[in-house]
Amino acid sequence: MKNIYSAIKITDNVYWVGAIDWTIRDFHGYTTPHGSTYNAYLIMADQITLIDTVKAPFKDEMLARIKSIVEPSQIKYIISNHSEMDHSGCLPEIIDLIKPEKVLASVIGVKTLKELFHDQHEIIPVKDGETLSLGNMELAFMETRMIHWPDSMFTYLAKDELLFSQDAFGMHLATLERFDDEIDAATLEFEAATYYANIVLPYSPIVLKALDKVAQTGWTFKVVAPDHGPVWRKDIGRIIELYKKWASQKTTNKAVVIYATMWHSTEKMASAISEALAEAGVKVKLLSMNEFHRSEAAYEVLDAGALIVGSSTLNNNILPQMADVMTYLKGLKPANLIGAAFGSFGWSGESVRDLEAILREMKVEIAAPSVSVRNVPNEGAMQLCHELGKTIATQLKQKVDSN
Ligand SMILES: Cc1cc2nc3c(=O)[nH]c(=O)nc-3n(C[C@H](O)[C@H](O)[C@H](O)COP(=O)(O)O)c2cc1C
Repeated sequence: MKNIYSAIKITDNVYWVGAIDWTIRDFHGYTTPHGSTYNAYLIMADQITLIDTVKAPFKDEMLARIKSIVEPSQIKYIISNHSEMDHSGCLPEIIDLIKPEKVLASVIGVKTLKELFHDQHEIIPVKDGETLSLGNMELAFMETRMIHWPDSMFTYLAKDELLFSQDAFGMHLATLERFDDEIDAATLEFEAATYYANIVLPYSPIVLKALDKVAQTGWTFKVVAPDHGPVWRKDIGRIIELYKKWASQKTTNKAVVIYATMWHSTEKMASAISEALAEAGVKVKLLSMNEFHRSEAAYEVLDAGALIVGSSTLNNNILPQMADVMTYLKGLKPANLIGAAFGSFGWSGESVRDLEAILREMKVEIAAPSVSVRNVPNEGAMQLCHELGKTIATQLKQKVDSN
């Protein structure tokens, strides 16, 4: 049968030879309802070079795409920009099959690959700023530690003005379209923001430094080729601007109200708070963790200025759905937020105190008195929730104005 998989030409000398995962729905706790791609790239230089590989079960798809233009045994070098298993899972098998002259990774990448595979393959470390001749063209390497693993690095192909950016500027989106200009802009921005919020957000200060470092290299870009999702060739400036915006974490006039409830009392409180915020001109997102996923909460918090969280008390604790999302959000380290807590209880009422404590751990500034209500909120309790919303709105406006 004819090979159904083809390589896709992305520049004069580079082909996409990755794999499309239409069915993956979970990446270490981040839900991916639209699947993903594992991008690998083939540089058709004098020394044919493969940039990254794919998740282990997708090895044959990658090999088939490579074979559509060249015999895999012709590959001389393999570069591992990021050693996480979705990009390196089939690397040991590929090395055995292709027997390349050199496999290269960052200094930490070499160590990490050893710790992942415990094999005898020789991997050559490349340092920040080092270059590699491919004969008729050259690669340059830049360490991008903690974006988003310690081993991460960028590889730049000056001849095609192409940056291989590993997970940076990527998104989890399975498509047969390979380029940004083939996908509508709103989808691109939503998926890139979701990816940033769920993967890159904790490293925002490092992202800002890395963007400066890239600017200082004088590298010019016609194409940015990440390890997931489409290749950027139309509006590279836009995705770089978005990364600057997301990494800056400036306070905005948006509040996210996140809660969970058993018998709808906390839900009533959440609605009163949200309505008061909206009445005061704040953009509001209301998320019930009984229904929403933690990844959606992360997406909404990315560009928010206030985080208001609610839970009823269950067995002297917050509800498990709230424990889940609060643990997740705490790890993502959103910055510059104000907030408050609220919730209903029956007798001991620990949930609001506990939520407030988590907000403080997250360095969220408590900007309004929290509201804790025994059983179903009456008119007075609903009024307190309304006041909470109004106070947060006023504080948020002051913070945005002082930005
Ligand atoms: C299984 C169960 C355990 C509960 N445990 C506690 C508790 O330890 N302390 C407390 O104050 N209330 C407890 N409650 C009472 C609820 O917090 C109370 O009914 C509250 O109004 C529920 O608010 P909700 O409708 O927003 O979930 C418990 C309720 C249930 C159903």
